[in-house]
Amino acid sequence: MAVLVVSGTGTEIGKTVVTAAVAAVARAAGRSVAVLKPAQTGVGPGERGDADEVVRLAGDGVTPVELARFPEPLAPDTAARRAGMAPVGPGEVADAARKLAADHDLVLVEGAGGLLVRYDEEGGTLADAAALLSAPVLVVAPAALGTLNMVTLTAEALRARGLAQAGVVVGSWPDEPGLAERCNVTDLPRVAGAPLLGAVPSGAGALPAEVFRTRAAGWLAPALGGTWDAEAFTAAIG
Ligand SMILES: Nc1ncnc2c1ncn2[C@@H]1O[C@H](COP(=O)(O)OP(=O)(O)OP(=O)(O)O)[C@@H](O)[C@H]1O
Ligand SMILES: [Mg+2]
Repeated sequence: MAVLVVSGTGTEIGKTVVTAAVAAVARAAGRSVAVLKPAQTGVGPGERGDADEVVRLAGDGVTPVELARFPEPLAPDTAARRAGMAPVGPGEVADAARKLAADHDLVLVEGAGGLLVRYDEEGGTLADAAALLSAPVLVVAPAALGTLNMVTLTAEALRARGLAQAGVVVGSWPDEPGLAERCNVTDLPRVAGAPLLGAVPSGAGALPAEVFRTRAAGWLAPALGGTWDAEAFTAAIG
């Protein structure tokens, strides 16, 4: 899997933290890794973007790339239009990912918000970039009530476009899961039609980077290079 597109059900659900965990595990296995954030919104010049956050957590060996940065915290096409800047379309995203894949073992492409957020005036999305790349899409999702509908919609959109869904990862698994969270672990793979590939504990993004790197393999399934066991996890939470 040379290019993996990291999307999810929306914004602020842990895509960056999950991307960092996947990057950390790949680096620990000796793979070269690049992280591509095509359009970074809501961040000014000199501030840290998501790609920088991945490097902070996963290590200096990860190559961070941003194609554009728009200051307002809005969808990329809206933020570009309001900034009077050129948007970043799916073609550009795919070209950049292909170039990075030429000299990295793994390229992680982190979208903005959810799968169908618009990147340009033509309505191009991260899904279009994934299609151009024939790359699988990893869906990051919350654990809480409401996630099943959002994951179902995302899975349906992926299937309608003929895209492969790598699986689902819970972006922030609470310390004290309630009934909905515990039941969702069983139901997420069913509604996604794809395996549950991990659960990153809430608070992981605030761990010291060294600790984050040591623990990351325990949050991700073997398909993502880790040791996390979906069955054991499900059994343990009852
Ligand atoms: N497992 C986690 N541990 C600690 N903090 C987390 C975790 N998941 C999410 N967060 C925090 O929640 C916020 C949003 O997470 P994150 O940046 O990963 O979201 P995102 O899905 O990448 O959002 P965006 O669409 O803006 O890229 C961040 O402040 C992050 O530190
Ligand atoms: Mg992010």
